[in-house]
Amino acid sequence: MNAATRKQFAEAEHATVYTKYRPKADPKVLETVIKYLKEKKQTPLNVAVDVACGSGQSTVGLAPYFKKVIGYDISAAQINEGRRVNTLRNIEYATADAENIPLPDKSVDLVTCSQAVHWFNFDAFFREVDRILTPNGVLAVYSRGDYVLVHEDADVAKELTKIYKDCTWKTLAAYWNDPVHATRQNGYVDLAIPYPDFERVTMESQMDLTLTSLTGFISSFTAYQRFHRENPNDDIITPLHTRFLQALNVQTLPEETTVTTSCPIFMMIGRKPGTI
Ligand SMILES: C[S@@+](CC[C@H](N)C(=O)[O-])C[C@H]1O[C@@H](n2cnc3c(N)ncnc32)[C@H](O)[C@@H]1O
Repeated sequence: MNAATRKQFAEAEHATVYTKYRPKADPKVLETVIKYLKEKKQTPLNVAVDVACGSGQSTVGLAPYFKKVIGYDISAAQINEGRRVNTLRNIEYATADAENIPLPDKSVDLVTCSQAVHWFNFDAFFREVDRILTPNGVLAVYSRGDYVLVHEDADVAKELTKIYKDCTWKTLAAYWNDPVHATRQNGYVDLAIPYPDFERVTMESQMDLTLTSLTGFISSFTAYQRFHRENPNDDIITPLHTRFLQALNVQTLPEETTVTTSCPIFMMIGRKPGTI
C-alpha cells in the first residue's frame, strides 16, 4: 500500500463520517458466512478477525457468534473511532496492515474483509490469511456494488438514480482511485481465493435512508473527501438535496425524507483445507 493510499482514511473527521453514515454489514451476509463456516467447524467458534474494519461496520455483527472478535485497520483514526463507539466486551480493535496481521499461525476461525480488499496487495493478504486460519477456517471477502434508487414510480426511480450517479460518477469522476474502484465495481471477478472450497455469492441489499443519510454516505467516499480537500468552498450536497426533493415532488426536509436504495453485494468465500 503506498503512502497516498494510506493517507486516504487517516483523518479523524473521515472516521467520524464513517461511523455516522457507512452501512453496517447486511445480516444476510453474516448469516451466509456463519452458515458456510459451521459446515465444517464445531461450535463454539473462537476467534474472528475483521481486516480493514474501518470503525467496525462489519465487525460488530460478528460478536454474537464468536468468543472474541478483533478488528484491524491500517488507520489509527478509524481504530480510535471503533474503540470510542464500541459497547461489546468481546470486540477488540487494533491497528495492523492487512498484509502483516499480528496473530499466531492457525489461531483464527474466520477472517472477514468488507469493502476493502480492493485496496490491498491481494496475494500478500491471502498469504497472511492462510497462515493465521485454523484448518477448515474461512475467508469471506465482500463489498457493495453501486447503488440504485428504488421507487414505486419507475420514472421517479430512474430520475433519482440519475441524480445519484451524476454526483458519484460525474461530479466526483476525477477524484476516484480508478484501478482500485474498477476492482470493486466489477464484483472482484479479477480476484479469487485459491482454496479448493471456493464460491462466489451475489445478493441484493435494500435500505431505507433519509436523504441526509444518503448524501452523508456520499460524503464518506474517498472521492468526496478528496474533492472536499481540493475544493473546500464547493457545496455539492445542498444542490443534491434540492434535486432529489424536486424529483420526489415533495417539500419535506432532507432529514425527514426517506428513499430506498438497492445494491448488489459481491462475496468471495473460501475454506482452508481441513488436513494440511
Ligand atoms: C472503505 S473502508 C471499509 C471499512 C469497513 N470494513 C466497512 O465495511 O465499511 C476501507 C478501509 O480499509 C482500510 N485499509 C486500506 N488498506 C488497508 C491495508 N493494507 N491494511 C489494513 N487496512 C487497510 C482503510 O483504512 C479503511 O478503513
